[in-house]
Amino acid sequence: MKALVLSGGSGTRLRPFSYSMPKQLIPIAGKPVLEYVIENITDLGVTEIGVVVGERAHEIIEVIGDGSRFGARVTYIPQDRPLGLAHCVALGRGFLGDDDFVMYLGDNMLPDGVADVAADFRAARPAAQVVVRRVPDPRDFGVVELDGDGAVRRLVEKPRHPRSDLAMLGVYFFTPAIHEAVAAIRPSARGELEITDAVQWLLTEGADVRASEYTGYWKDTGRAEDVLACNRWLLEGLRPSVAGAVDAASVVEGSVVIGPGARIVRSRVTGPAIIGAGTLVEDSHIGPGTSIGPACVVRGTRMADSIVLDGASISGVSGLLGSLIGRSATVVPALYGDAQHCLVVGDHTRIEIAA
Ligand code: DAU
Repeated sequence: MKALVLSGGSGTRLRPFSYSMPKQLIPIAGKPVLEYVIENITDLGVTEIGVVVGERAHEIIEVIGDGSRFGARVTYIPQDRPLGLAHCVALGRGFLGDDDFVMYLGDNMLPDGVADVAADFRAARPAAQVVVRRVPDPRDFGVVELDGDGAVRRLVEKPRHPRSDLAMLGVYFFTPAIHEAVAAIRPSARGELEITDAVQWLLTEGADVRASEYTGYWKDTGRAEDVLACNRWLLEGLRPSVAGAVDAASVVEGSVVIGPGARIVRSRVTGPAIIGAGTLVEDSHIGPGTSIGPACVVRGTRMADSIVLDGASISGVSGLLGSLIGRSATVVPALYGDAQHCLVVGDHTRIEIAA
C-alpha cells in the first residue's frame, strides 16, 4: 500500500497565517500538523508516500525532506492550482500505479491513528473505505448517508441541508478502482473535482464502498479555533521535561516541557504547556494549554490556551487567551484603555493593545 498526502490548497480559512506559511506546517503542541500525518501513515507500515504540494512547495520540502527522518520515502507531486481532492488523485496516478493507497488530507489531525480502519480495509478490500464521525453541524464536510444495515447509500460534499450527521474525515482508503471514478467525474459547482463525487460514482456503479465510524480524537485544522482546540487536546497528554533553566524565583507546575536554552525568570508556568528552545519567559504567568515556539520573548505577560510561533515577542499583556501569534510578531501594550484580548495575529504583524 502507498499513501497520498494532500498538502497543497490555499488555506483561506486560516488567513492571515496561510499567507505566510502552508497551513499544514502550523505547529500544534510544538510539531507541524504534517509531521503527525506522516507518522500516522508510517505507523501503518506504509513508507512510499506521495505528497501533493502547491505554490508553497519549497517550505513543505524544507520541513519534510526526503522522508528518511520518518523512515519513509517521499515523492513530491506538484499541483499548479487547488483544483480539488480528486484532481490530486489524478495527479498522483503515475506515483500510485496500480497499488492500493491511503489518501490523507494534510490538515487533518487524528492523533489516535487509523490502524483499525486500515485493518478493516486490508481485510475486505472494498473499492473505497471512508472514515466518518458524527458532528453537530456537518455542513462544512462531506456527508455520508447510511441505510438501515449500515451500508453507504449516498455521499454529498458540503450539503446545505445535510440528511445525516456523519461527516467524512480526511482519511480515505482506495483500491485502484478510484482512478476510473476520478476520470469520470466533472468539477462541482465550486469548480473542484470532489473526491466525494468520485466515491459516489463508485457507489452508483455498484462498487463496494464502506464507512468506518471513528471514535478517536479528530480535528480538521482548517480554522484558528480548531488549531487551538487541537493544541489543548494534545497538551493534555504531554510528558514533562525540563532542559532549560528555571530560576529560584519561578514556579513550574503540572506537565511542562521547557526546551534547551529556554529561561524562566521570576515567572509561573502552569502546565500543560510547552516553552520552546531558547525562549525567554520573564515576570510572566504562562497558563495551561499554551505552546510557545523557539526563540520567543515573553515579558510581564499573563497568557493561557494559546499558540505562539517562532521568534514572537510579547510584553506587558495581562490577559492573552485563545490566541494564535505568528512568527516574529510583536505584541505590546498601547498607552490607553482597558480591554479583553483575543487575537489571531499573522506572521510579522505588530499589534498594539490596551494593557
Ligand atoms: O476535513 C475533512 C473534509 O476535508 C471532508 O469532510 C470533505 O469531504 C473534504 O472535501 C475536505 O474538505 P475541506 O474543505 O476541509 O478541504 P480543504 O480544501 O481544506 O483541503 C483539504 C486538504 O487538501 C488540505 O490539506 C489542502 C489539500 N488540498 C486541497 C485542494 C482543494 C490540495 O492539496 N489540493 C487541492 O486542490
